Amino acid sequence: MGVDLLAGTVYGVAVMSGRTPTVLVFDSGLGGLTVFSELRTALAGANFIYAADDAVFPYGRLPEEAVIARVVEVMQRLIPLHHPDLVVIACNTASTLVLPALRNRFSIPFVGTVPAIKPAVSLTRTGRVAILATPGTVKRDYTHQLIRSFADGIEVELVGATGLASLCEAHLEGYTVEDAAVLDEISPCFVDRDGKRTDVVVLACTHYPLLLDTMQRLAPWPVTWLDPAPAIARRAADLAGPVSLKALHADAAAVFTSGARITGDLRRALAERGLPAIAIEAMPPQWH
Ligand code: DGL
Repeated sequence: MGVDLLAGTVYGVAVMSGRTPTVLVFDSGLGGLTVFSELRTALAGANFIYAADDAVFPYGRLPEEAVIARVVEVMQRLIPLHHPDLVVIACNTASTLVLPALRNRFSIPFVGTVPAIKPAVSLTRTGRVAILATPGTVKRDYTHQLIRSFADGIEVELVGATGLASLCEAHLEGYTVEDAAVLDEISPCFVDRDGKRTDVVVLACTHYPLLLDTMQRLAPWPVTWLDPAPAIARRAADLAGPVSLKALHADAAAVFTSGARITGDLRRALAERGLPAIAIEAMPPQWH
């Protein structure tokens, strides 16, 4: 058992022995694909299920109890169906809340994704960093605790982007995303005050790397954009242990809890990312 404040708290022991392991990667939507890409490399040969709770996306606007109840409900459906050896909660909005509840209910290990504040602090030269996240993540006690623990003496801009995750989804679904809409969301990250200019922006929502090229192009000045996905994948691989991951029949499929917004462009994007098979596990939210 160990604690890793970059990739989340990890419980458990070596989980995979001999046979091809199955890894369940979960997000509210398509953002977890940025983590999935890294996992595919770090755990080449594992079977993957990528699960998107698109029936409820976005989580960033939901009250905390609703996020906890929903993620537990989805896991209660998916874990008995797919028997994963490891679950990666590839969502900051969920991981900053729900990991204790999941670990109470299930004995398999969970790897989470939480804002990469500690690495940002070690990277900044100016002493000012921005955390770009959903409104949910910026409110979390967990996030504030990370800042208190690791960002002493550093100016931290906590930026709650209300629509950026949805813009990232629209981009992958093949719709045009206006530069002005992206710029509106990222502008508060860029602060030049008291001789300290933001030089690191933490991508504290797994969706945001999907629009990284656009964000880099629109940034008022160059910064380091910190994407924790490679570190999360390394953590998952460490946890998987020294398994022979050269299975010939490794498999991957995407599961959606609604499927209502699956466009042709999205199907192509999923296939290009190694997810040609799509299944619907309908889970309409009970509060709708
Ligand atoms: N991808 C999710 C995250 O990392 C959040 C998107 C949302 O559902 O609001 O926080």
